[in-house]
Amino acid sequence: MVKNEELEVDIIDNGFEGEGIAKVDNFVIFIPEAIIGERIRIKILKVNKNIAYGKILEIIKSSKYRVESDCNTYSKCGGCNLRHINYEYSLEMKKKSVQNTLRKALKRDIEIDDMIGMEEPYYYRNKLQYPVGVSENGKITMGVFAKRSHRIIETNDCKLQNKACQKVAKDVFDFIKQKEILGYDEKTNLGLVRHVIVRIGVKTDEIMVIIVLNSMNLQNEKELVEFVTTKNPNVKTIVKNLNNKNTNVILGRENQTIFGDGYIFDYLENKKFKISPLSFYQVNPVQTVKLYTKAVEYAELTGKETIFDLYCGVGTIGIFASDKVEKIYGIEAVENAIKDAKENAMINGIKNAEFFVRKC
Ligand SMILES: C[S@@+](CC[C@H](N)C(=O)[O-])C[C@H]1O[C@@H](n2cnc3c(N)ncnc32)[C@H](O)[C@@H]1O
Repeated sequence: MVKNEELEVDIIDNGFEGEGIAKVDNFVIFIPEAIIGERIRIKILKVNKNIAYGKILEIIKSSKYRVESDCNTYSKCGGCNLRHINYEYSLEMKKKSVQNTLRKALKRDIEIDDMIGMEEPYYYRNKLQYPVGVSENGKITMGVFAKRSHRIIETNDCKLQNKACQKVAKDVFDFIKQKEILGYDEKTNLGLVRHVIVRIGVKTDEIMVIIVLNSMNLQNEKELVEFVTTKNPNVKTIVKNLNNKNTNVILGRENQTIFGDGYIFDYLENKKFKISPLSFYQVNPVQTVKLYTKAVEYAELTGKETIFDLYCGVGTIGIFASDKVEKIYGIEAVENAIKDAKENAMINGIKNAEFFVRKC
């Protein structure tokens, strides 16, 4: 097999990231956006020892599960992998993926239940983080990273992100552009704005903006606050975050609140949670409630149990289950997360939970 060779192949499986898999001679070929059961004409892009990578040239026999993607940046963007597949079938694929992983780990077959999907699998993410940089023509740009690259693709309607968050991010970017504030250039480590992050408590409608900067010296920051909060009254806090390292990690450790209290709240069912700029909080709140409810249901709690919420983050799972058990111990490596977990227990009037900073 050689680079640029054109072949007709049958797709015999889909891999962990949804990529189609074909076998020719002794080669396994990975082909993005190909679906099991399809016959495809491909071009080989890269050949390793027994593995090759190809791209679709023509779909000769199409899968009945193939759909037209509803996103105009799908083929370039590194965010979604399965938008060319009908949602119900994508859940089947995920089920199979879990089954395969468990089979490998346990070395036996186990039955697993069907995936519990979303009724509306759109605009559900409560946290967007858009990179800001410099485009090829030297202009400031904001969007999403292209697949396996740090090239920024502008996006105006991401189907995953909460719509209010997208609007706030755009307003922040408009301001930055208007004031000719510089975007960060990864090649030279120069420029100021690296990321715009917007988080929302979907139940409280409270929005947090985090502007990740190469230096804390943000010109016109008062004007920025005025501009963004006037246009979006539900923005409750704006935070500057310093990240001047040459790294792929988005957030630095240092925050400075320039508007509001530095945090927002959200509810999961009847439990209230404080969200700080650096704290982990599940990004799909609709499915979080379903997931935690299922976990509690499967645990068949009688009210007498002691629960260990390992890797507890800000304590969401333990606190969610706290009414149904006798005692909760939350354990987590990050000190600030444990601080938030203790505060979350207090906010909810929970007396049967203790949290500890420990490595599991
Ligand atoms: C994906 S988050 C999940 C948090 C929480 N359970 C939830 O569902 O919101 C994983 C958490 O594990 C913590 N963590 C990672 N490695 C750890 C370790 N070795 N011991 C304890 N906590 C760890 C991280 O700091 C993070 O808060």
